[in-house]
Amino acid sequence: MKIKKAVLTGGGRATRLHPITTTINKHLLPLANKPMIFHAIEKAVEAGITEIFINMNPGETELQKYIGDGGHWGIRIRFYEQTGGPQGVAHVVKEAERFIGHDPFLFYLSDNILLGSLKEMVDSFTRERYDCMLALSQVEDPERFGVPVFDDRRHIIDVLEKPANPPNNFAVTGVYLYGHRVFFDAFDHIEKSARGEYEISSIHSYLLHAGKKVGYREITGWWKDTGKVEDLLVANRLLLDQLEPGEFSNHGTVHHDTQINGNVRIGIGTQTQEGVVVHGPVIIGENCVLRNCAIGPHVTIGPGTEIRGSTIFNSIILDNVVIDGDIHIRDSLIGKKVEIRKQNDDAAAGHRMIVGDKTVIEI
Ligand code: G1P
Repeated sequence: MKIKKAVLTGGGRATRLHPITTTINKHLLPLANKPMIFHAIEKAVEAGITEIFINMNPGETELQKYIGDGGHWGIRIRFYEQTGGPQGVAHVVKEAERFIGHDPFLFYLSDNILLGSLKEMVDSFTRERYDCMLALSQVEDPERFGVPVFDDRRHIIDVLEKPANPPNNFAVTGVYLYGHRVFFDAFDHIEKSARGEYEISSIHSYLLHAGKKVGYREITGWWKDTGKVEDLLVANRLLLDQLEPGEFSNHGTVHHDTQINGNVRIGIGTQTQEGVVVHGPVIIGENCVLRNCAIGPHVTIGPGTEIRGSTIFNSIILDNVVIDGDIHIRDSLIGKKVEIRKQNDDAAAGHRMIVGDKTVIEI
């Protein structure tokens, strides 16, 4: 039976991305100027999914506003609130049991960004009648993830959650497939871990010990769990690099002396004034104003942002930001409505700042 349903994560606290995630749901942070969760939805749709269930924190309204009912992708999307507070990744799926019923499904942690398609994995899961299939990726820091244990014949025999001494350098990524009732039967047999969560790795460990047919595919393209700011920047960079030239087009008003090199998308209503140099890949949103500045490579700028006199490299700038003055910005994530202005060249005169909690400023 073909997989048509998927559960996607849309909740959680994302404390490692504070302060930006105090005012925006992590899953709506833009990567290549598209909300992070859109990338997950698109991977699911490409693999043949027609119905998606997204978990969210109680009181969430923004996710629904951005994502809608799925019509944009020609599928159906529904949201459900997590009851009883966050209790781990496996609990997110347990809460979706009423939607999944007896059907096989894809579970996708929406903060996982991957290049390449899931279609082959989904198709072989069905064709070869697996109970569960995991997507693995080689990483430098497997201790941050679920790690598979293999036997001599490269069969997977266990999964360890964040082991202090990983047996290999594979991570179990946040992309999982489950057959008929397999997940929910396993859930009834697992306990919360030491960190008080129902771990997804406990489900897999249980299934393997119960003799279920658990397979894996290695993600050959690139994969990233975007838990930290550095990861977001890398994901943004790679997504920009793999966009086709056809996805970059200019809908703005470009000054005759503006230099555009490489792939650059400029949104409707955006103006470049004198002295602008843009090195693609770069995406500039709608209604921005750029003057005397150098942008890129690997920069995305949200709508309504104004940049004057500055250089920006390898950064994600959100909406309605003002960056004004001789300022060089690199490797940065700048939230909505932030204003950064250079008032004078005398550092000894001091810097005036009105910044929120947990902001990082390196001068
Ligand atoms: C979760 C899973 C872990 C998996 C990771 C992938 O970890 O528990 O097994 O490797 O997602 O992104 P978390 O991000 O909740 O720490």
